Order: sequence, then structure tokens, then C-alpha cells
Amino acid sequence: MKTITVKSLKGSYKICVGRGLLAGAGARLSAMFPAGSRIMIVSQKNLAPYLKTISASLAKKGFKVHAHMLPDGEVAKSGSELFRLCHALLAQGFERKGGIVAVGGGVVSDLAGFAASVYLRGIRYVNVATTLLAQVDSAIGGKTAIDLKDGKNLMGSFWPPALVISDADVLRSLPQRELSASLGEVVKYGVISDPALFRFLEKNNKKILRRDAATIEKIVFACSQIKAAVVSRDEFETKGERAILNYGHTFAHGIEGASGYKGLVHGEAVAIGMMMAAQLAADLGICSPELPWRQMKLLVAMKLPVSVKKFNLKADAILKAMMKDKKKDQGALRFVLPRRIGKVTLEKNIPLPRVRKILCLAGAK
Ligand code: GLY
Repeated sequence: MKTITVKSLKGSYKICVGRGLLAGAGARLSAMFPAGSRIMIVSQKNLAPYLKTISASLAKKGFKVHAHMLPDGEVAKSGSELFRLCHALLAQGFERKGGIVAVGGGVVSDLAGFAASVYLRGIRYVNVATTLLAQVDSAIGGKTAIDLKDGKNLMGSFWPPALVISDADVLRSLPQRELSASLGEVVKYGVISDPALFRFLEKNNKKILRRDAATIEKIVFACSQIKAAVVSRDEFETKGERAILNYGHTFAHGIEGASGYKGLVHGEAVAIGMMMAAQLAADLGICSPELPWRQMKLLVAMKLPVSVKKFNLKADAILKAMMKDKKKDQGALRFVLPRRIGKVTLEKNIPLPRVRKILCLAGAK
């Protein structure tokens, strides 16, 4: 097992990356929470086998273990689910020394983390990340949120977890589509800051798709290191640095909004969004025309979509949804654009007709 430290103004925390880590959760938490504390495991029903291992390990160390199940999918990130969890904590007599263990992907950690940040004005929570996307991104950095009817993640907090556990063994059973979708974010780390990781992915994409555990553990560690370094330097996304993690996301949120969040999952929208961002950068002369090609080859090798052709989306609908994105700066859209593999830049004031042209080139109508 390897550990990475994330610096936070609210208290630094560790990310544990390795294999077979779930059974050791109790031992790890007993070093952090007072003996006999209440722990609420928050998860979803398809993750039952992991819950069994984790709750047995917590109970063995004397914790009073409770479980709270969220509905599957993005619907769990709602105000009513937030209140349901807070009421469950209250009903079980949770005090400030108790904690939440969020077992799942980004949906679970977003909702559980947000509840942790507001219940009794804040209790601690631990992320046990069970998807590749969560392990390389959402479990790290303390962004928590629910969705409002106008868009995703519009209400939330920065509330860092007390610990992140990323067990590469749990990724072996990930369905193909989910694995590929997460690999879009992995490719993102290569483009924004690590040319060696990008080359590693180009060389090892077949092994990764075969779910070779050692190779996957390596990429989880590499991406976690990058994310940890970025959020340690710019925890609250005020210095322009954390924003680089949003490479491809302005376009992706537009695609997701225009499609009504149907037909493609977030990681697929991010892959298409990265292609649009790279094409925009090449069109503006910010990067060489070779960069979008190289990125496209890798995304296609990871079995990801690279255009919106088959999704039947209108360019104006994508643009309208992009304008609702909370990552706007003084009302203007802000794009993370690649200069070269491993280096990106933040650009705003890009004329909308230019953006529209890129959407049309990528198959929007
Ligand atoms: N997922 C982007 C961030 O954590 O800032």
C-alpha cells in the first residue's frame, strides 16, 4: 500500500492506494475516531459485498456501525436525500465525534460529504472509493454537492474527507462502459500535467482494459498524486490552478445538459469535451494540430466516444447549457485548453461563434 498526503486548511488527510484494503478499514478508523464512536456507512445496494467487509472490520474495532442506503444514480444527489440522511443520523443519536463512511462513487461521496459538512455544523467522513472515477477524482479534494433542478452540483461545500481509501481490487468487477468512462478522466491527468502518464496510457491501454490490477493500481496512484498536489495548492479553486482539473468539463456539462443527462455517462461527455477543447485550442493556434489527433487515438483506444454525431444534439442547445455552467467567470465562459501534452492554460473571452464552430465540427447540428 502507498499513501499520499493532501494538504487542507481544515486538516490534512491521507489517500491510501493499494489492494485488499477494505478489511483494514476498522484499524485505520480506530486511529482517527474515539473508541466506540458511531459510524454511518452510506452506500448503494449494488455495493453490498463491500459493505459487509467494511462493517465487519469496523465492528471488530468496537465501532457502533449503522448503514444508510441511497437510491442508485444521480437522483441520490437531491435535497430530499440530504435531509433523509441528516434525519437518519439524528435518529441514531450521532454526535459530533461520530463519522460517516461513504462507500461508492462520486454520487455517494458528494451526498454523504455534503451531509457531513452540515450535520451538527460538520462531522468527519471517510471516502472508500469503489469506482475508478472516484479513486482518481471525486473522492479526493473535498468537493461535495447536490444537484438543483437548474443543473448539477449547484449547491455544496468544500469539506475535505478525513481519509480516502482506494482499493484497486474493487475495480476488477467494474463493467466495461464504466471502466472506459473513468479512463477519460485518467487521460485528462496526462494532458493537463503528466506527459509520462500519457505515454504510459498509450503503451498500456490494452492491459488497462483487461483490468490488469498492477497497471490499474499504478494509474490510480499517479492520478491521485496529481490531484492531491493540485488541491493542496488551490483547495478552494481560487488561484486558477484547481480549475485545470476541469479540462473538457465546460463542453461536457453542455453536452450533458443538452442531452438531458440521457444516452451518455459523465466520463463519456468529458471525453468528447476534451476533444472539443483540444480542437478549439488547435483552431486558435494554442496547440499543434497533432495534439487533438494523439488525444483522439488514445480516447478511441480506451473505447470512448470522441464526437456527438450519434447523439443528435443541437449546437445551440449545447451552448445554452454551457452558459449555465457554474465555472463561468464574470459571466464569461472559461475554457481549459491544452498547449502541449502535460501543459494547459485557462482562456476566457473566446468568441461564441468560434465555440459553435467546434461544436458543429464535432457533430452537433
Ligand atoms: N473534479 C474537479 C475538482 O475536484 O476540482
